Amino acid sequence: MILHFSGTGNSKHLATLIAEATGERLLDMAALMDKGTTVICLDKDEILGWVFPVHFWGLPALVRNFIGSLYIRGYSGQYTFAAATFGMLCGNPHGQMRSLLRQKGIALNAAFSVRMVDVWTPIFNLSDTARCLRITQDAIPHMQRIAAMIAGRKCGNFVRRPLPALVDGLHWLLYQNHRPTAPFHLADGCIGCGQCASNCPTKAITMHAGRPQWTKAQCTLCLRCLHHCPAFAIQYGHFTHNHGQFANPFV
Ligand SMILES: Cc1cc2nc3c(=O)[nH]c(=O)nc-3n(C[C@H](O)[C@H](O)[C@H](O)COP(=O)(O)O)c2cc1C
Ligand code: SF4
Ligand code: SF4
Repeated sequence: MILHFSGTGNSKHLATLIAEATGERLLDMAALMDKGTTVICLDKDEILGWVFPVHFWGLPALVRNFIGSLYIRGYSGQYTFAAATFGMLCGNPHGQMRSLLRQKGIALNAAFSVRMVDVWTPIFNLSDTARCLRITQDAIPHMQRIAAMIAGRKCGNFVRRPLPALVDGLHWLLYQNHRPTAPFHLADGCIGCGQCASNCPTKAITMHAGRPQWTKAQCTLCLRCLHHCPAFAIQYGHFTHNHGQFANPFV
């Protein structure tokens, strides 16, 4: 069973390759949360896998909340892995995952990370679409190697560009405790299609008079709304309008 969350498709790309290599079922954490699922059952021969993007050197709020509310039935030491996609520096999401799982009595056997396009466009410029495609294509052989290692139930720490657990303090300060939605705003061109609201994994957007409004408490800041808007009308802060949009083309 591979539990995954993805804002713009990178982590879904990785999760799909792992599911293909292992034959495991793929479950979307956002969809499970939306359905109010709090219990999942693991078969004795199944793998338990977690695939997610790095947010501020740590776990996305959605993943943390999902694990916090979850009961896993049938765990008896099955092979368990965590695999993150990141852009510049991976940080310590695996350490955070290890602690959360330990509280549930689950041991993490293997940790992986893959460097992909960094979708945090308040800083990074993704307007060169050919470069984004090249980065994504270059990541595929690495993702396939990870998928093969997981299929072979390889144990160990294979995280690239980690940071010490000291960064958890910054992660809490900048992301888990703060995570502002005030910088979201609409530029010209919104066609009122409502896709931002219907595609939001946490239902943090509601439409008012054909315009989106964000609810801070629910937003996990994945930037799917910004990157997938057909009119590129959603901006975050002052710089995103020059930095382009990204959606992983392989999912
Ligand atoms: C809110 C936010 C914070 C991010 N923080 C980091 C980070 O600390 N380090 C990093 O390397 N990448 C960071 N990224 C980039 C993503 O981890 C990376 O682009 C990932 O592949 C996106 O996966 P997804 O397409 O499945 O959402 C961040 C992205 C977002 C949206
Ligand atoms: S912001 Fe974009 S996705 Fe949302 S309603 Fe407007 S055009 Fe559609
Ligand atoms: S409002 Fe946008 S950034 Fe926030 S969770 Fe929804 S899609 Fe992601």
